[in-house]
Amino acid sequence: MASLIEIRNMCKIYNPGENEVRALDHVSLSIGKNEFVAIIGHSGSGKSTLMNMLGCLDVPTSGIYLLHGSDVSLMTDDELSDIRNKEIGFIFQGFNLIANLTAYENVELPLIYRGISKRERSSLAKEALRKVGLENRMDHKPSEMSGGQQQRVAIARAIAQAPPVILADEPTGNLDSHSTKEIMNILKTLHSEGRTVIIITHDNDIAANADRIVHIEDGKITSDSANSGNLSREDIDREIKAGTSQSDFANVATDYEDSETEAETKAFEINEEMTYTDEADTNEVQKEDDYDIPDAQVEDTENNIDLHLNGEN
Ligand SMILES: Nc1ncnc2c1ncn2[C@@H]1O[C@H](COP(=O)(O)OP(=O)(O)OP(=O)(O)O)[C@@H](O)[C@H]1O
Ligand SMILES: [Mg+2]
Repeated sequence: MASLIEIRNMCKIYNPGENEVRALDHVSLSIGKNEFVAIIGHSGSGKSTLMNMLGCLDVPTSGIYLLHGSDVSLMTDDELSDIRNKEIGFIFQGFNLIANLTAYENVELPLIYRGISKRERSSLAKEALRKVGLENRMDHKPSEMSGGQQQRVAIARAIAQAPPVILADEPTGNLDSHSTKEIMNILKTLHSEGRTVIIITHDNDIAANADRIVHIEDGKITSDSANSGNLSREDIDREIKAGTSQSDFANVATDYEDSETEAETKAFEINEEMTYTDEADTNEVQKEDDYDIPDAQVEDTENNIDLHLNGEN
């Protein structure tokens, strides 16, 4: 049976020509349903590039990506957008919450885009926030929450509609050790509930939470092995044969910027036109009034509301 994720001989070259960067260099990787995989490597090794491919946020220069056995390169933009919305929950280092929305509204927003009724949105958003232990913070805005709480809101947003795959790029990069532990416990729980969890990190301790550790260096997978769960940190260091000492990792975390990358923006954007079917609460979906979202337009036609996002249409 085909793997959930099957990457074959994938290359990604940025700036082809003289100054080209080979960010992925003939990468092949299969990930099955309900695996918990850590992709580890030092800064610039190609982790985020690989995550962007896995999340259908960018296209490779060459190679094949089969998701559920389907060739991603043959999919239309709308189909890709659909996959990003329904199949994958994205978690990034910088949380990517909308500052003027409460925790509840941040979690609810993608559900509005997906045309889910208000009643179901409420139940999904509350359940997701409860799962991450934030039932008492639903009305708080991001500025009123700690970094760990903000990341938990981002996780609640990612899991609200139960996507089968969770893709997390340095989800604990901005967090202290206590919050890091909380976030990792949440990811472990999601895995134990049947999700496929893929976490990208430069931190061996974080990677040690996963069942499988894939090491990437200079765009190449240099090792891929099961994590027995009984390994000490030293064992893991040895096992991943990183060729990169712990001290090389030490300064990486401070290199990050909080600013959103193009991929992060794309992960939460809806390309297709969403039609909201009439229900008792139809007129309560007033995007521009309720939520101050740039470039969003709403057309309230007779029994449905069309959301046009990102200036499209
Ligand atoms: N949009 C881009 N244009 C040109 N080069 C890029 C682009 N994005 C990434 N790169 C380069 O590709 C290589 C891999 O980058 P990538 O972001 O995947 O690394 P990373 O492993 O995620 O690093 P970090 O741990 O610092 O986040 C790096 O050399 C980087 O400079
Ligand atoms: Mg990165």
